[in-house]
Amino acid sequence: MGEMAQRIVKQNKDEIIKELQIAFAEEWLAYYQYWIGAQVAVGPQRTSITAEFTEHAGEELKHAQWLSDRLIQLGSLPILDPQEWQQIAQCRYAAPTKPYVVNLIEQNVVAERCAIARYQKICELTFGKDFETFRLAEKILKEEIEHEQEIGDFGDDIRASSKYGDREQES
Ligand SMILES: [Fe+2]
Ligand SMILES: [Fe+2]
Repeated sequence: MGEMAQRIVKQNKDEIIKELQIAFAEEWLAYYQYWIGAQVAVGPQRTSITAEFTEHAGEELKHAQWLSDRLIQLGSLPILDPQEWQQIAQCRYAAPTKPYVVNLIEQNVVAERCAIARYQKICELTFGKDFETFRLAEKILKEEIEHEQEIGDFGDDIRASSKYGDREQES
């Protein structure tokens, strides 16, 4: 246990721990949503999109690792029972029951926007009061912003190709 690490936190520690646990649960769900999406996806650009999903899945898992490390430093624990992930998470898990790539992209964009709001909130909560959690949340926030943009671009490209592709055929 990092005693000094905890003493320097100038924000309510329970409040920070609660937010980190919610984020931890959301990261595991985000990991699985990307991972399972990469297994079942069908549609245009499938190879590139599933490669991107797999890469993002790995990054969500890395975020869960960082959050676990910080929770332990703060004298808490990551969530021990996966059944609690769905109960505690506020960013919802969307099962890929319609595995067309555009549907999957839209579901993951929703999840990324929720993640961005989560880390923005943790940054605001800890700014100037808990530098280490702030630094962590800022680092993850940067990656979630990149994720939203990267998969959003795939969705835009598919929509553009169907729009301009139709025009090509008409002329
Ligand atoms: Fe993440
Ligand atoms: Fe993400």
